[in-house]
Amino acid sequence: MVRINLARLRKDLQELGEIGTTPEGGVWRSSFSEADMEARRWYVKRLEEAGLQHWVDAAGNIYARVGEGGPAVIAGSHLDSVPNGGRFDGVLGVMAALECLRSIKDHGVQPRLPIEAVAFTDEEGRFGGFVGSFAVIGTMTYEEILRRRDLRGMPLADAMRQVELDPTNIGAARRDPKDIKAYVELHIEQGPILESMEVPIGVVQGIVAGSRTWITFHGRADHAGTTPMAMRQDAFLGAAEFGLRARELVLMEGSGTTVGTVGVMDLKPGASNIVPDTAFLTLDLRDISGEVLQRLLERVGVLAHETAEKWGLAVTVERMRLSEAARMSPHIQAVIDEVARDLGHKTHWMNSGAGHDAQVMAKITEAGMIFVPSRQGRSHSPAEFTDWDHVENGANVLLNTLLRLATS
Ligand code: GLV
Ligand code: MN
Ligand code: MN
Repeated sequence: MVRINLARLRKDLQELGEIGTTPEGGVWRSSFSEADMEARRWYVKRLEEAGLQHWVDAAGNIYARVGEGGPAVIAGSHLDSVPNGGRFDGVLGVMAALECLRSIKDHGVQPRLPIEAVAFTDEEGRFGGFVGSFAVIGTMTYEEILRRRDLRGMPLADAMRQVELDPTNIGAARRDPKDIKAYVELHIEQGPILESMEVPIGVVQGIVAGSRTWITFHGRADHAGTTPMAMRQDAFLGAAEFGLRARELVLMEGSGTTVGTVGVMDLKPGASNIVPDTAFLTLDLRDISGEVLQRLLERVGVLAHETAEKWGLAVTVERMRLSEAARMSPHIQAVIDEVARDLGHKTHWMNSGAGHDAQVMAKITEAGMIFVPSRQGRSHSPAEFTDWDHVENGANVLLNTLLRLATS
């Protein structure tokens, strides 16, 4: 079996990890930010250096390819990061995919089908997430682009125009499912299971359904010193009670593995001597069952209105994104497992609680994911780390999985 070049992959990951660094030791590359654009330019240089055919589509997804004809076997992930995130989430899958193409060229291997590497736009969600992969499957329409904005109110369409992408042309990013044989994504686990089991390779079976809801409580701004407690319409109280009741909802009415997170909360006007008239919060809700998630989302809407009424407030509830749960292809799971064992690695079959472009690509093609251990399960934090041995093993499993899929 052929092998990737770890020294080259490691150097790439380290160089990329220096783009968009934060004082806390993490990286911050929100999609279409200056840091993201710098990472994209750096990545395209690597593609040029490698002498690979490459192109950028109408969604800003960056592709490279070896081989001719079709359908293509595609590997990839994302270059954008969460605020103050780690150096492995997403970039491992993108850089390992590139390393696979380089290794295929180096070894003069000629698979029957072409193999592509892709870096998807906005996986993490500055603009709601999955912008690039939704464009590929055709659900990121111009209308959907017009609905999306970031937390500061910047419309996705404007951000696209700033980087010379025409949002009205988004349909051009769509791929014909007939042109794609399979999609495989290597990713860090982002949880503690593989490390605790001392197993180097995770074979992903399913990915959770996820949702993002923006909730805004509207009250009245008043003087914090002169307004009696009984005469206030304090938007904060709606948000605070909602946050606690959302947790109760998850625990009491969820599946047992449902998770819910309020990750952003913002009060306006934002002064210690003003009763806030606006309280904004985001609720991230996930479950492996799409039906459970739908049921909970309906309850979330009711809860928001009940809470608003109790505190004399108005409320708006906006569903920013819904991503369906996905089963990974049984065939690809079997290939990943077989390749890993042929390379001498134990495997563990598991679900993903994190969202991934693979769950989107699964709508139009056979999709699979390879996980490698995360030190102490840490992720979405500067503490994110994966041992280089695990990086090498994961990339070798990816390479040989791609080759088997492109040869069979
Ligand atoms: C992406 O990392 C997500 O699961 O939110
Ligand atoms: Mn990721
Ligand atoms: Mn992430």
